[in-house]
Amino acid sequence: MKLLVTGGAGFIGSNFIRYYLCRHAADSIVNLDLLTYAGNLENLAEVEKHPGYRFVKGDICDGPQVAGLFEKERPAVVVHFAAESHVDRSILAPSPAFETNLRGTFTLLEAARQYGVERFVHVSTDEVYGSIEPPQEADENYPLKPSSPYSAAKAGSDMLALSFFTTYGLPAVVTRASNNYGPFQFPEKFLPLMITNAFEDQPLPIYGDGRQVRDWLWVEDHCAALEAVAGRGRPGEIYNIGGNCALENREAVGQVLRVTGKPQSLLRPVADRPGHDRRYALSSRKIERELGWSPGVQFPEGLARTIDWYRSHPEWVRRVKDGAYREYYRRNYEDR
Ligand code: NAD
Ligand code: DAU
Repeated sequence: MKLLVTGGAGFIGSNFIRYYLCRHAADSIVNLDLLTYAGNLENLAEVEKHPGYRFVKGDICDGPQVAGLFEKERPAVVVHFAAESHVDRSILAPSPAFETNLRGTFTLLEAARQYGVERFVHVSTDEVYGSIEPPQEADENYPLKPSSPYSAAKAGSDMLALSFFTTYGLPAVVTRASNNYGPFQFPEKFLPLMITNAFEDQPLPIYGDGRQVRDWLWVEDHCAALEAVAGRGRPGEIYNIGGNCALENREAVGQVLRVTGKPQSLLRPVADRPGHDRRYALSSRKIERELGWSPGVQFPEGLARTIDWYRSHPEWVRRVKDGAYREYYRRNYEDR
């Protein structure tokens, strides 16, 4: 079976490609990625010589290129990760999130409709439900109330994918995962930012009171869920994928300080994120019941593994925290 993976040079996509090729020796993967600031072919060094793996540089918004790729490769399954994935960047400049997350998804859906696929897995996020009041948790029928340009564009792309199922019978499946963590995550995101700043004795910027709740999902657990959905997910359905590890940010960063042996004095409260969602909380009972998936790695174990990975990859960290990263860092943090 041939898969088209989009955004496979990013954090979750690269973990998924490694995970999938290890377990499906007879299958092949074409990875379509534009290599934006978040895409990094170093993330795929382990698989670049794998006979079943091929990389294509390209833009999911480019209709003729995407159609040409479908025509040539005829993938049976699409696993669509490519997106502008960072909330803070979408607040600083919302247009790329609109273009990639909405128009790019539309372009892929059109090509998949034209050439036919067995399954189109649209990788989405729990952020589409917005902030959830305790003690509620969102199941797949919970109303959508996205807060940021990023999550609003993701919610729109979910609706597009589902509409292609309803209208054209395209076998699209939508997944909504909680906060992923693990190796190869770009250090603009909370945990790798805290870990790599702690290594360098740099301040750890905590938005607002730090009591926002996120549900941490080990990235390989997410990959296992997506493998199950790609194989057996029901077309037209949505599957929530939660980590079952809900923590306040200040507790998560406290654990980072404990494991790295760094002092509390590194914590730096800064101005809050505009429109900041207070709490995410997912019910993953549907995927557990239908596909037999549940998360395997608890936060203390996953965090220790993540910290070990960043400690043993200083060159990777140094290269991604280059000039462009420093410019983004300045724009996002200097006035907080
Ligand atoms: P990431 O930012 O690490 O990677 C995104 C990848 O998409 C990069 O390789 C980038 O080069 C590529 N890309 C961006 N624009 C493109 C375009 N126009 N054409 C082709 N490729 C393009 O993102 P991630 O954290 O790995 O997230 C992957 C997906 O999972 C996203 O759709 C995101 O919404 C979703 N998601 C992420 C999380 C999380 O915690 N990171 C949780 C739930 C869902
Ligand atoms: O929930 C799934 C989502 O998780 C994905 O859809 C997104 O792609 C992914 O980026 C992530 O979004 P968040 O906004 O939850 O993740 P982020 O790592 O940016 O922030 C996590 C929490 O930490 C959030 O409450 C904001 C806070 N934070 C973040 C940064 C970068 C800080 O307090 N300080 C920071 O410097």
